[in-house]
Amino acid sequence: MKMNELKLVYFSPTGTTRKVIMEAARNIELKSVSFDLTVHKEKKPSLQFRKDDFVLFGVPVYSGRVPETFLEYFDTLKGEDTPCALIATYGCRAYEDALLELKTEVENRGFKVIGAGAFPTEHSIIRSIGLSRPNKEDMKTIAEFGIQLNRRLKQKENFDSINIQVPGNTPYRKYSRTPLYPKTDVSLCTECGACAKLCPSGAISTTDPKKVDKKKCIACTKCVRGCKQKAKYVSNFKMKMAYKKLTKICKSDKAADIFL
Ligand SMILES: Cc1cc2nc3c(=O)[nH]c(=O)nc-3n(C[C@H](O)[C@H](O)[C@H](O)COP(=O)(O)O)c2cc1C
Repeated sequence: MKMNELKLVYFSPTGTTRKVIMEAARNIELKSVSFDLTVHKEKKPSLQFRKDDFVLFGVPVYSGRVPETFLEYFDTLKGEDTPCALIATYGCRAYEDALLELKTEVENRGFKVIGAGAFPTEHSIIRSIGLSRPNKEDMKTIAEFGIQLNRRLKQKENFDSINIQVPGNTPYRKYSRTPLYPKTDVSLCTECGACAKLCPSGAISTTDPKKVDKKKCIACTKCVRGCKQKAKYVSNFKMKMAYKKLTKICKSDKAADIFL
C-alpha cells in the first residue's frame, strides 16, 4: 500500500518519550506530522486518521498504566483500520499493563497494531535511576525498531496477518496517583504563569500559579523542571521517600522489549 503520512501522537511531560518517538520516526520514510498532547488543550483536537496513514503512539508509563491525561484525548481519536505502532517509555521499574492498555484503546478506535516497544529510560521522578537513558546503545535499539517498522510498511500490502501480542493483564493494575504535588517558593515566584502554561493536565491556576489542583495534578514534574525561577519544587521529604522506594524496585540496566 502506498502510505500517506506518519502521524506522531504522544504525551511526554519531561521529553523522554518525545526523544524516543522522534528517533523511531527518523527511520520511517514518510513525512511526519506531530500531535503533542502534552500541551493542555481545553478544546480537544480532532485525531482522525486515514487508512493509508501510519500512526506512532508514544506514552510514558505511569503506575504501570497509560497516563489518564493522554487517554482523555481519545474521545476524538478515530482510525480506518489505520496501521500504527506503540511506544511506552518507563523509568526502569516496570511497564506492567501499559502496552496492553494502549493497544486495546487504539484497537477499539479503529487502529491495527503492527509493532510495539517498551523502552527503559531515566526515571522522571528520581533521575539517578536509569540516568541519561536513552543512551547511545538505547538509541540504536530504538532506531532499529523504526527501521523494522519501515520495512514492514514497505513490504505489506495489507496488515491483516499481523497479530502483535504484548504483555499485561486485565483487569489492569489499579491506577495509583503519585502524591508528589508541586509547591511554590513564594519568595522566588514571579507569577509569570509559565508553569500553568506548561502543565499538561491544567492543574495550575493561570490567574494564581501558586494554586495547584491536587485532583488534576498527575505529578509529572514538568512545572518543576520548567520554572526558570526555580520556584516550583516537590517537598524534600517526599522526594526522599520516593528515592528510597524507587531505588529498591527499579533496575537501571533493563533492556528494551520489542514486539514485531
Ligand atoms: C507519576 C509518574 C509515574 C510513573 N510510573 C512509572 C512506573 O509505573 N514504572 C516505571 O518504570 N516508571 C514510571 N515512571 C517513570 C516514567 O515512566 C519515565 O521516566 C518516562 O520515560 C517519562 O517520560 P517523559 O519524559 O516523556 O515524561 C513514572 C513517572 C511519573 C512522573
